[in-house]
Amino acid sequence: MSTAAPEQRWYVTPAREVGGTVTIPGDKSISHRALMLGGIAEGETSIEGFLASEDCLATLAALRALGVRIERPAPTRVIVQGAGSEGLEPPGAPLDLGNAGTAMRLFMGLLAPQRFDSTLIGDRSLMRRPMERVAEPLRRMGAEIHTRAGLPPVEVRGGRALHGIDFHMPMASAQVKSAVLLAGLRAIGTTAIAEPAPTRDHTERMLEGFGARLRREGTAVAISGGQRLRGTHIEVPGDFSSAAFFLVAGCLGAERGLTLRRVGINPTRTGLLEMLSAMGADIQVHPLGDPGPEPVADIEVRASHLRGIEVPERLVPLAIDEFPIFFIAAAAASGESVVRGAGELRVKESDRLAVMAEGLTRLGIRNELLPDGMRIWGGAFQGGTVHAHGDHRIAMSFAVASLRARARIEIRDVANVATSFPDFVALARAAGLQIDAPGGS
Ligand code: S3P
Repeated sequence: MSTAAPEQRWYVTPAREVGGTVTIPGDKSISHRALMLGGIAEGETSIEGFLASEDCLATLAALRALGVRIERPAPTRVIVQGAGSEGLEPPGAPLDLGNAGTAMRLFMGLLAPQRFDSTLIGDRSLMRRPMERVAEPLRRMGAEIHTRAGLPPVEVRGGRALHGIDFHMPMASAQVKSAVLLAGLRAIGTTAIAEPAPTRDHTERMLEGFGARLRREGTAVAISGGQRLRGTHIEVPGDFSSAAFFLVAGCLGAERGLTLRRVGINPTRTGLLEMLSAMGADIQVHPLGDPGPEPVADIEVRASHLRGIEVPERLVPLAIDEFPIFFIAAAAASGESVVRGAGELRVKESDRLAVMAEGLTRLGIRNELLPDGMRIWGGAFQGGTVHAHGDHRIAMSFAVASLRARARIEIRDVANVATSFPDFVALARAAGLQIDAPGGS
């Protein structure tokens, strides 16, 4: 299990204006998938725009431990020599996936059909996250998987032949869907998945890019087993979930505009754009064509007067990682905002509903925590100390709140920002935020 690093803090001084141009680093979800599919494909896969963050590097290290040859000629360029569908080798030790829930869940699907045993572990946060949601459908496919009362360590026993299933996913989760698709690729027969609501479809798009055939109809997808993947070239777009912090920062303080470059705008990820538009945000999306399976755009945002909204439930899975920063936008808006149907936020890197409600209250923002959401009354942020509870997206969200704060905000336990956005402090400073990160970047 990873050992906890000494606590890092940020001190963020109110700045009134942000602006300029920010090139958003690569997408985390797509970087994980590019490595994994490249690892089990035949031949070489080259990845441009790879996100060199702790989470994605944990996936890279795990694949190397499974015998995949991977070179990194530059931090954001990766060459994977695929081991083929049967070429992975037994890892000599448990695979430590750090903070990366996506890595653990997708590896469960990738490893379930292998001929060897493997054990998956992670840091303190990951060791508390639910894994039965993936183990249960995989068992129905014939896999043998053990969890500890539903939590990691996850033990995957190899040598089991898997068969296809009809799976009605009980929650909207792209991680669960992706794990079952990866197992389905090696199963006998067809694996069909029905989602309760659309979730990010990067796995489906990328499987097709590697030459697999899928049947997709609305929120249903089916894959037949025994297909082989062929290595390919992947351009990873900028991560919309990282762009989100700058989108809201721009709404709060880009009097002369802020431009975000090469952002992935896959419609299964951009629910926040719709939410901010409904709040009155001045945002323009300039599509850069469709260079690969993932659409990309430059996005321009200007300071806007935001109004509170009731978030339509259908947008929740399409903005699932953006709620911490949405809550900051709602706190800076006039009037009341409400989110419901977002109980999944309680099992992310932290309980994002409880942790955000606690931080907002500490900064003087009135809110009501709901079992599956939150109600927020817009107001003025006071200065004060908030605790990110090791959750990267909470730390970055409260840094953006400083644009409307009356005094300095201290943010505790921020080291995990490196799991998804190691360059955040540098890029946020270049855009105008005043972040002091003693001992950190
Ligand atoms: C992810 C899916 C989402 C998201 C996570 C990344 C993915 O999780 O919160 O950060 O890459 O598939 P769920 O699918 O469990 O909602």
